[in-house]
Amino acid sequence: MTDPVEVTIDSLGAKGDGLAHHQGKSLYIPYVLEGETVRVSPRGERAELEEIVMSSPDRTEPICPLFERCGGCALQHMARAPYHGWKSALVADALASRGLDAALEPLTGTEPGGRRRAVLAARLIGRRLLFGYHEAKSPRIVDVNHCPVLVPELSALLPRLADFLPLFMTKKGEAKVTLLATDSGIDVSLDHVKDMRGGQDYLKAVELAEELDLARLSANGEILLERRPPQISMGRALVSPPPAAFTQADKGAEDAMAEMVTTAIGPDAKRVIDLFCGSGTFALRLAENAPVWALEGDEAAIKALEKAWRFAPNLKGIKMERRDLFRRPVLAMEMKKFDALVFDPPRAGARAQAEEIAKSDVATVVAVSCNPGTMARDLRILVDGGYRLESVTPVDQFLFSPHVECVAVLRK
Ligand SMILES: C[S@@+](CC[C@H](N)C(=O)[O-])C[C@H]1O[C@@H](n2cnc3c(N)ncnc32)[C@H](O)[C@@H]1O
Repeated sequence: MTDPVEVTIDSLGAKGDGLAHHQGKSLYIPYVLEGETVRVSPRGERAELEEIVMSSPDRTEPICPLFERCGGCALQHMARAPYHGWKSALVADALASRGLDAALEPLTGTEPGGRRRAVLAARLIGRRLLFGYHEAKSPRIVDVNHCPVLVPELSALLPRLADFLPLFMTKKGEAKVTLLATDSGIDVSLDHVKDMRGGQDYLKAVELAEELDLARLSANGEILLERRPPQISMGRALVSPPPAAFTQADKGAEDAMAEMVTTAIGPDAKRVIDLFCGSGTFALRLAENAPVWALEGDEAAIKALEKAWRFAPNLKGIKMERRDLFRRPVLAMEMKKFDALVFDPPRAGARAQAEEIAKSDVATVVAVSCNPGTMARDLRILVDGGYRLESVTPVDQFLFSPHVECVAVLRK
């Protein structure tokens, strides 16, 4: 271990850690701000914060007592305006690194208490249950019995859920706990837990789900009890997502992004494609105006979309197709009759798909992404194919984390 040293923070890196230099070497330090002078204990290329010697005017009081212990948040100590500026700069830097010159729209913010989906971890240590988020850059779990980022009903559930999780736990390994607050109640999906089929454990689990008034309880992908179908409204439709399936994490962010997508595509589009459509976040809203061809790799998500569409009033047709869009992207020639397209791939982006869109004549393309790096790569492909990058809007879907969502609009 090295003795503490005093350094000044030059900048914040893409993961929210401060970057300083000491004896010609880079040091990454969490929970600091640009311009601050701090005493730190170096450990390799990282350093632990010991003391803030001179703090930044951008520093603010964190809203959670677990901040700096729990790895769920990285940036609660930064005032809102510079925090938004930092997130926007992540997007601007990613675009600039690909030589893209786009006018960045102001960031769409979210508020504490707005996050409706969260994935937590649980582990038994002897008879003691640990249930919460991982520490930053560590497999260790920090017990969390209150989380101000979550919608209040999810935060209130955490200590009550902790009481009944031991029933599901195996002696070894870590369980994954996916929580989703829906319009009809909370949906709990447990993965890497005991097989609950048959026997007393199953009956106890059902009793506990009743006691917690859960909408649905699933274990290892299987629904144990559905007291009410968990439902999320998407435009005129009500979607019941599969257990632990992808859903946008913050309803405010989802609504803002859906509004950006539908406005960019506009009411005059005749036929629209939605790629990586999930359970229909965009397709169901776009189908209020135009027929949609919706493609997605996950069978269960497609089924949820199909059911939501069938019951929704006054929607145009949605043609649904399960397709692996990495291996078999929609080809430019298949896009001939379409005048608008939205694509919202996972973090890896959609290089092969972007190459096909670039060759097409689809007039309006909207790219939605949770990874500015892969988004910038894919936008470069589209711009090289003749698209004009009209706007890019950062969205702070993952409050206080270093992640940022984006919506980019392109025209040809
Ligand atoms: C970021 S989510 C977006 C989902 C949807 N647009 C939404 O807003 O709810 C990415 C989606 O891509 C799907 N996906 C991942 N890999 C895929 C692949 N190779 N082919 C098709 N879909 C894929 C996932 O199942 C997930 O639904």
